[in-house]
Amino acid sequence: MIYHIPLHSIIGSLQNSPGEADSKKDTICLNMHQWTVQGGTTPQQCASDKEVNFSLGQPSPRLLPIEAIAEAASRSLDPNGSDRLILQYGAAQGRFSTRESVSVFLSKRHQIAVDPSHLMISTGNSAALGLLCSALRRTHATAFIEDPSYLHAPNILKSHGIQAIRIPVDQEGLCLDTLEHLLCTNQSAPAFLYCIPTYHNPTGRTLSSSRRKRLLELATEHEFPIIADEPYNLLHFGPNAIPPLASEPNADWVISLGTFSKILGPGLRLGWIHASPRWIRLLVKHGELVSGGGLNPVVGTIVQQTIDSGFLDSHIDCIRKTLVHRSKILHQSLANTFWIGIPQSIDANTLLKAAKPLRVQFTPGSRCGPSSDNHTFMRLSFSFYEPEELVEGAERLVTALHTLLD
Ligand SMILES: Cc1ncc(COP(=O)(O)O)c(C=O)c1O
Repeated sequence: MIYHIPLHSIIGSLQNSPGEADSKKDTICLNMHQWTVQGGTTPQQCASDKEVNFSLGQPSPRLLPIEAIAEAASRSLDPNGSDRLILQYGAAQGRFSTRESVSVFLSKRHQIAVDPSHLMISTGNSAALGLLCSALRRTHATAFIEDPSYLHAPNILKSHGIQAIRIPVDQEGLCLDTLEHLLCTNQSAPAFLYCIPTYHNPTGRTLSSSRRKRLLELATEHEFPIIADEPYNLLHFGPNAIPPLASEPNADWVISLGTFSKILGPGLRLGWIHASPRWIRLLVKHGELVSGGGLNPVVGTIVQQTIDSGFLDSHIDCIRKTLVHRSKILHQSLANTFWIGIPQSIDANTLLKAAKPLRVQFTPGSRCGPSSDNHTFMRLSFSFYEPEELVEGAERLVTALHTLLD
């Protein structure tokens, strides 16, 4: 019998490139001498020598644009020319000039008009989700979330005492029939729906346009906010970026989250919230912002500099090319090798156990959601490693699989 392993989620969150011509980058990749390694205390961070950890959905450390950030920092923090008040408590919504630059950046990249008054500066999507949990929880202690979903999202909800109610995802994205059924049978609307409508983590799927429209209708009808976690929209492989859900018509109930983690560097801890002013007003009244002011204004000013100088635009174009290349390399390696008979009874966790001694790891699907269907899936990120390392990792996975089949 012939089966194929359901590699439904070959996602790569990003790959930063240092801004060199892509052909030059590829030459460097193909002649690499050193394995990509990274120290860290958690499996989310750690990459040991000669190991391929496909769980790592973060940029390769050697490609983080430290030079460009250093230059932007020295320009924005020039004691002779910069605004000293950058170091002061700032406006809760974020500095106007930073929001204005982000609005110009988003408008250009998405070919839409984004009003700075619809933006708020955040410290990235994880923290923005936490802030929204605390602002929206009120009496509703439940929220809808996809199954599978971003593996850390349920923990953020749990930290705020919110119980996750799962909704399956199919080829077109979130299953709206199940959502509708839950909305009609539940006593009250949830605190919110959390979803990843574009390049979903882990499935890589994008919510179809008919479902987007219907989802927005349901939110309006049943009056529940949609938190759209959208870290990957600007890393599109095709010619055009898919605009944030908050920019669709009738998106009054949508709060889109964007982040610089995947397009500049996660250590910056900077992102943006894109929503109609009613949600921005709710957030700026949050006690933590009233007390501490706007989030991360110094880094906001540095990132603003990377936008204003044009660096971020060219950097994103390089990342996209690098990611397309890496995804092709991994896909080809797996298609060449994995397209073999695999009994469906093999659980991804069993494969992971067999893979570990071969120094290859991945995220088993069961970590992304409770449905039993997830057990036969594995999530492979391709952003962290160089092409040769991806090929080596794919070969080791195949060897691991053979140890189970033999
Ligand atoms: C869907 C999703 N949301 C949020 C994050 C984390 O975003 P941030 O670094 O902005 O906190 C990730 C990172 O992989 C992600 O895939």
